[in-house]
Amino acid sequence: MPSVSDLTRAELERFRNELFEFLSIPSVSARSEFQDDTRKAASWVVETLLSSGLEAQLFETPGHPIALGEWRGAGPEAPTLLVYGHYDVQPPEPLERWTSPPFEPAIRNGRIYARGAADNKGQLFLHLKALELLLARDGELPVNVVLLAEGEEEVGSTNLRPFLEAHGDRLRADAVVISDSAMFGPGLPSLLFSLRGLSYFELRARTARTDLHSGMYGGAAPNAATALARLLASLHDAEGRVAIRGFYDDVVEWDEETLRGIRELPFREGSLLEETGARGLVGEKGYSVLERLWLRPSADVNGILSGYVEEGAKTVIPAEAMAKVSFRLVPDQDPDEIARLLSEHVERIAPPEVEVEVRELHRGRPWRARPEGPYFEAARAALRSAFGRDPVLVGEGASIPVVADFERHLGAQVLLVGFALPGANMHAPDEWFPLDHIEKGILTLLNFYSAL
Ligand code: BES
Ligand code: MN
Repeated sequence: MPSVSDLTRAELERFRNELFEFLSIPSVSARSEFQDDTRKAASWVVETLLSSGLEAQLFETPGHPIALGEWRGAGPEAPTLLVYGHYDVQPPEPLERWTSPPFEPAIRNGRIYARGAADNKGQLFLHLKALELLLARDGELPVNVVLLAEGEEEVGSTNLRPFLEAHGDRLRADAVVISDSAMFGPGLPSLLFSLRGLSYFELRARTARTDLHSGMYGGAAPNAATALARLLASLHDAEGRVAIRGFYDDVVEWDEETLRGIRELPFREGSLLEETGARGLVGEKGYSVLERLWLRPSADVNGILSGYVEEGAKTVIPAEAMAKVSFRLVPDQDPDEIARLLSEHVERIAPPEVEVEVRELHRGRPWRARPEGPYFEAARAALRSAFGRDPVLVGEGASIPVVADFERHLGAQVLLVGFALPGANMHAPDEWFPLDHIEKGILTLLNFYSAL
């Protein structure tokens, strides 16, 4: 397969400036004060698609708009590729932990630092520029291309699902390609064989009409913070397993080939300690770290709120406590079933004087790839020629909620080809993307298209 030559210095400089412009838009989907900026990022995508020669438009949703680009010049008989990404980003807080402000992109040590640099604007940008270069060079693409960029991935893709159902015909594709993940290591291009699913809940415990004087009532009145803490502690047993009855019932065992592939990856537990700054690792006994991250489900408390937390002391018994709790799911766990099991668990654990409310915020099904076929081989060859070595096949503990829906609704094979690096600080301060992966990423995609 002919590999594409390197990009020119002038092209790379222009791309860097354009990416900086995109990264400067604070498209924080979770917060309404950024609603206009989020729309601005969507329009930025549409403008970029239009000026590259695709047809493009914004679709309104009850939430943030969907940017859709289309190039159908290959004709109705030719295959269609769907490119998916998201232009929304996670909230940047805590701001004081950023070395440079999150929406003022900066380059240090060969890295672009900004919120969204890796997740996902920087990677979506690679696809936009690959399409631009191909259309400028050849005047055409080897396949029909639909590019779909949503603004609600970081808040659960709630409005994308009905959009997929409503526009199934228009979005019909032979394969979906997504760059919203990381490589296993520097110089180690990677293709994903799995994503975990997600069930996300808000729990509220109530114990009294209002907060109470802890001297007048302490020792007799129930405490919502304590009650919720007990409930949260009951989610795991002493062996690091999730202690909800039935939680593991639908978990499938993986094949020996996948297990062997994982064992052969160059992985040290120490590197995870360095990457995270944790002093030790936790989790289910009997499974290796990568198995725990990729093949096994997990439960986490994402946040807790209760009682007096301002300066100084206040003697009070909180009447209410709230926690955000989420579960990462693996095949064949089902979000409906997990919601049911959690409610049962809460009912069993919470004493009668504590009222607990369980509300689901969002969800996504787990996904497992079919790592084979012509599209998969094209991606493999493209990564090889851009990075100079064969990609490794890796799992992923994180979630991209719509991936399973793409396979269900569109019947298309999904390819996950990510270009971020471990420790990219996705969702954290000082998020970064390697500067040289702009060129390597675009070259990979150019090679991918020519391999099709
Ligand atoms: N890009 C990430 C998912 C990801 C991260 C895949 C690292 C592979 C490697 C995505 O934007 C994300 O953060 N997903 C959320 C989904 C949730 C907010 C519905 C997640 O996993 O928490
Ligand atoms: Mn994310």
